[in-house]
Amino acid sequence: MPQAIKKAIFPVGGLGTRFLPATKSMPKEMLPIVDKPLIQYAVEEAAEAGVEEFIFVTGRGKSAIEDHFDHSTELEDTLAARGKDSALDVVRAMMREPGSVAYIRQQEPAGLGHAVWCARHLIGDQPVAVLLADDLILPQKGKPGCLAEMVTAWQETGGNMVAAMEVAPDQTSSYGIITPGKTKGILTEVNELVEKPQPKDAPSNLAVVGRYIIEPGVFTELAQQNRGAGGEIQLTDSLAKRIGQAPFHGALFSGERFDCGSKLGFLQANIQFALSRDDLASDFSTWLKAQTF
Ligand code: G1P
Repeated sequence: MPQAIKKAIFPVGGLGTRFLPATKSMPKEMLPIVDKPLIQYAVEEAAEAGVEEFIFVTGRGKSAIEDHFDHSTELEDTLAARGKDSALDVVRAMMREPGSVAYIRQQEPAGLGHAVWCARHLIGDQPVAVLLADDLILPQKGKPGCLAEMVTAWQETGGNMVAAMEVAPDQTSSYGIITPGKTKGILTEVNELVEKPQPKDAPSNLAVVGRYIIEPGVFTELAQQNRGAGGEIQLTDSLAKRIGQAPFHGALFSGERFDCGSKLGFLQANIQFALSRDDLASDFSTWLKAQTF
């Protein structure tokens, strides 16, 4: 019987060149959707799925992320002194258990697989989740988050699992692409997986979205340090090598995914997340409807 998933890796070493100048001195993972940074949505999604240890694979210039998940005594004291109780609740509620957040540096930008491998000593011999904060997923009303859906499904299968969704056929070169097998419920067997194929070479338009559950065998493959698409060490390649040795499924999650690594996805996410909020939906939708586009 598969165990619970207690640890998650958050690769946050990327440069964020698509959001310059905003990301010149600020990590792209700190870009806010409404009033919360992308990385906090990912951490909260992981916590909701039962994750208790949060491992960030960071790089130079990312210290704002560490500060974000730490107490700011000065801020908290000031809010308390001014009686700003609800603001104080917000900053206190996001704190994790002392000692449950760790930071590892990826010393070179050698790819997603390399970033995940950098966390190996903190993982040990157990399955782990990986979340890419750029891929922001708004749960359907009343439904659990994407990773929680995956963890529930994974209890039946074990092995490796990725979040999966169909993308436009001309977009395959931006994603890991799945050769699907049998489908049962939200799960599709992954028979093959290839990183960023050109549309003419793509086996389908079923793409990997940035949520993974990986078993220890993937770390053994990552240790080979083989380079793949773009000359980088790809997580996709090590997952593909495990096919036949461990179960591998794509989870067709129920939420709506936004590519917040792109400007369009980032803008769409801000609108949909604002409309999903009780404190903003009414005024914001009234304003939106009054616009002439
Ligand atoms: C990464 C993965 C890719 C996956 C994508 C999801 O690519 O390598 O397989 O489909 O995330 O967002 P990146 O977007 O980092 O280039």
